[in-house]
Amino acid sequence: MNRRTFLTTTLVGSVAAGISTAALAAERYFPVNVDEKLFETINRVKVPGKKTPLEMSHAPFITAPKAVKAGEQFTVEVSVGEHIHPMGPAHWIEYIELAIGNEPAGRVDFQPRGVMKPKVTFTIAVPKDMDPNGVVTLVAFQRCNLHGLWESTIDIVVG
Ligand SMILES: [Fe+2]
Repeated sequence: MNRRTFLTTTLVGSVAAGISTAALAAERYFPVNVDEKLFETINRVKVPGKKTPLEMSHAPFITAPKAVKAGEQFTVEVSVGEHIHPMGPAHWIEYIELAIGNEPAGRVDFQPRGVMKPKVTFTIAVPKDMDPNGVVTLVAFQRCNLHGLWESTIDIVVG
């Protein structure tokens, strides 16, 4: 075998081995078929009051006061979801985010080790200039590695 043949064979063999190793690793971590449509958009509950099992475990579930005073702190709890989502090495919640209207308020990232449940309490305050109509919308997002991005909202009165 001449030098050129050796190098070509080694390079092609290494690339093939690398691809097959990566494919095997991906299959080990993602053993479930994924519904790719869930990754094409932001997912929301379609019929409030009639949540599907997927919506029950993925739509962020927001608990907040119905009314708050501008500038005063209050807590907002966001869990994924109404039925808490599992956390494991093959299927987990990557993060939970909270926004006040269009303004990001905070984000918590999770590791897929199962030591934390996807449930977060944010302490926030709504500035007076954010509520020109006396109502603000709290927006919660979460991303599941197998079921995509999900959003829920809740309106609160700001006095
Ligand atoms: Fe999921």
